[in-house]
Amino acid sequence: MTSDPHQLRILLYPDPALRARTMPVDPPDPEINVVVERMIELMFEANGAGLAAPQVGLPWKLFVTLDPQREGEAMAWLNPRLEILDETHVSDEEGCLSLPGITVEVNRPALVRITGQAVDGSPIESTDEWLSRVVQHENDHLDGVLIIDRMTTMERIRNRKAIKQLKSSARNSPGD
Ligand code: NI
Repeated sequence: MTSDPHQLRILLYPDPALRARTMPVDPPDPEINVVVERMIELMFEANGAGLAAPQVGLPWKLFVTLDPQREGEAMAWLNPRLEILDETHVSDEEGCLSLPGITVEVNRPALVRITGQAVDGSPIESTDEWLSRVVQHENDHLDGVLIIDRMTTMERIRNRKAIKQLKSSARNSPGD
């Protein structure tokens, strides 16, 4: 794991960490608390609705989201599990902090129940409709799935240039 969680930053596609296999976490764990705090900070700085551990280079089953019940607050979801409550698929435009400049219309079930653990290890759950989309996007990250994997042919054409630019700027930037 990283030596200093404060150094964590949002990794951009095509960083291989975004495709890593993730492992369950075991709360409570002070190390996880610090990582979660940093992830929340990064999510707010980037005006995101969610951020998953692989996006900061950690292969952990963990993501943070905005809290739909409390404006300006965030939640951490550890070892999340999703259950589809409404199979009706709805399409909505999604972006991703690891894919700046790219938006994709993604079809997802309208309503899911998310269950998981808070940082203190206690069980948490939500069936919030707005959160349903966010947690499906973030849960995809835990499976190494990105919105560009869900593009139609038309969207692939529309986003081709932005994806190419991300790939070439990754090649041109010095490794760290
Ligand atoms: Ni994302």
